[in-house]
Amino acid sequence: MGPHAASKPLTLSEQADELEERMMNELNDKIATKSALFNLADGNLDYVGGAELQARNPGKYFLMGADPRLPKMPDKPTLIDFFKHRFVSMNHLLQSATLALKAGHEEKVVLACLLHDVGVAGFIRCDHGYWGAQLIEPYVDEEVSWAVRVHQALRFFPDETVGYKYPDMYLKYFGPDYKPEPYIVEEYKRARRHKYYMTARLICVNDIYSFDPDAKVNLDDFVDIIGRNFKQPKEGLGFDNTPSSHMWRTLMWPTRFL
Ligand SMILES: [Fe+2]
Ligand SMILES: [Fe+2]
Repeated sequence: MGPHAASKPLTLSEQADELEERMMNELNDKIATKSALFNLADGNLDYVGGAELQARNPGKYFLMGADPRLPKMPDKPTLIDFFKHRFVSMNHLLQSATLALKAGHEEKVVLACLLHDVGVAGFIRCDHGYWGAQLIEPYVDEEVSWAVRVHQALRFFPDETVGYKYPDMYLKYFGPDYKPEPYIVEEYKRARRHKYYMTARLICVNDIYSFDPDAKVNLDDFVDIIGRNFKQPKEGLGFDNTPSSHMWRTLMWPTRFL
């Protein structure tokens, strides 16, 4: 770089190089990789293979464990650890669960409300009910994971018997012409006939009012309910060989090369 370059604004590619260098320092010289899905979210179908990536970062190895840019997780992580160190927002979940608790619902319903959007908080928005249910399925009563799965569909359909209307927020977010896809309509029809229908519906009822950023809520209020209703594995979430262990590990180590 010439002597006058410093005063010139950086080009986009110079900015990218600088960002890459800064990130690399934070990474203790390891190469963190962005998976296909992260790039797809940027509208990007590019693929850079391992050999080329390493050639761009001579003398460096790929990250194969914890990403030092993220909060450190304990060796045997619990659900509470994920709440504190991985879920990007807790407030909405805590508000939903607080409403359910105040309404006097049984603990299963309170837990379902507490966990209903873990898909969004920890993973991905698209089909968040399904992802969230899959994450928690091995550790909760089937009624809880079933309700978390289908709340995504039920949110689009009113039920006047419990005073649930189509959310104003959805009108605002998706426009007045939005219609749920056929698979969501089918899910709703199946759910209506299901024995746990009302549990999923109660998630919706406690969900709609739970977006107040100033509400005072505390995860500590739910530690006992989690303790009684979430089967925390002694090996730690991610290391207990269940059908969703790999999902917890991915959440813990999202930038591992493999
Ligand atoms: Fe949701
Ligand atoms: Fe929600």
